[in-house]
Amino acid sequence: MNAGAVNNPTVDVPRTALDLARIRADFPILHRQVRGRQLVYLDNAATTQKPQVVIDALTRYYTDLNANVHRGVHFLSEAATNAYEGARATVRAFFNAAHDREIIFTRNTTEGINLVAQSFARPRLQPGDDVLISAMEHHSNIVPWQMVCAEKGARLQVAPIDDRGDLVLDAFERLLSERTRLVSITHMSNAPGTVNPVGEIVRLAHARGIPVLVDGSQAAYHMPVDVRALGADFYVATGHKLYGPTGIGVLYGRAALLEEMPPFLGGGDMIASVTFERSTWNELPYKFEAGTPNIEGAIGLGTALDYITSIGFDKIVPHEQALLAYGTSMLESMPGVRLIGTARQKASVLSFVMEDVHPHDIGTIVDREGVAIRTGHHCAQPVMERFGVPATARASLAVYNTREELDALGAALRKVSEVFA
Ligand SMILES: Cc1ncc(COP(=O)(O)O)c(C=O)c1O
Repeated sequence: MNAGAVNNPTVDVPRTALDLARIRADFPILHRQVRGRQLVYLDNAATTQKPQVVIDALTRYYTDLNANVHRGVHFLSEAATNAYEGARATVRAFFNAAHDREIIFTRNTTEGINLVAQSFARPRLQPGDDVLISAMEHHSNIVPWQMVCAEKGARLQVAPIDDRGDLVLDAFERLLSERTRLVSITHMSNAPGTVNPVGEIVRLAHARGIPVLVDGSQAAYHMPVDVRALGADFYVATGHKLYGPTGIGVLYGRAALLEEMPPFLGGGDMIASVTFERSTWNELPYKFEAGTPNIEGAIGLGTALDYITSIGFDKIVPHEQALLAYGTSMLESMPGVRLIGTARQKASVLSFVMEDVHPHDIGTIVDREGVAIRTGHHCAQPVMERFGVPATARASLAVYNTREELDALGAALRKVSEVFA
């Protein structure tokens, strides 16, 4: 480890059963040097690194299978279609959805939320109606609602969070009214790292007949997600955080709701018939997949989900929780460091500020030590405002991270303190 192991005597967290050496060997980029140092990658909440099997799946697609899907009777088109639809079945099983037709491939979470805003909310919203989100949302779960609310004369209501970063559930419940048409809430926040009680949130909303979209961008690679057990009406996730490629995402929607919704984008593949007078729509899920999809992205995502499943959340969760406890304790013991986000239920995110040091300077100095963290507002400016900081530094964890890497972060942060002493 480049920065040297730093003892962290304040915590004694048991090491977990994960075969970390084997897992790290699966990720080629983890072995590269940056700035003359061994890379320590702690920016996983922005995007995760990719295992060799995913990289190979993308290469194999273009080497052996490349053809357009759903269009040809020739061998390659059939093979590409089977691989693409096979990936959909993998996604369905990963999230425990009931039917493949409830799984729509999108570009990312952002597109999934915009799809629901435009095709589900827009036709239903009337002036004076509400859409309810929380104060810990990523911009992609704020702006699409602002846009549709502005157009329809509806109100965007925001449930507050407390000083730890926990949702204030009483206040959330009070904001549910007969005017609320939809709740859209994150399963896990990317800034304070809070894990929301989404099962309870869905229960409270459904008791009043209000549908719920859950933003699973962060949660889906840290914990098992069962959309049916959660009862979510919509669940969105993004491939590049799930150890899969960029440019591919997933929208799960309950079939009954998706059936009622008009298409989001028009074009090829999403139609049953077209004349100049009118067109009719294809069946689910194709109604929402206009144009040539990201075929290799879907296949790569399917491979990534198989990879996660092969490790198992029963091993991933305790490993990441142990790392989180270790990192929390390390940061809490450092003079001048303040954690932003100490929610009761948290996962894999360590957002923090340092006295008299701008987060950007923290990021720059630790980068010189080969340690990659994120600094800034993390696409969550209202969260920064809530905590009264312009920005934070954020170290975020994934399955391949180690205690030694957190020690390297600790050593790099000590250098930051020295520079600004
Ligand atoms: C909680 C949350 N929601 C939504 C997004 C948006 O994901 P994407 O940019 O892949 O659409 C992110 C990405 O960081 C996120 O952390």
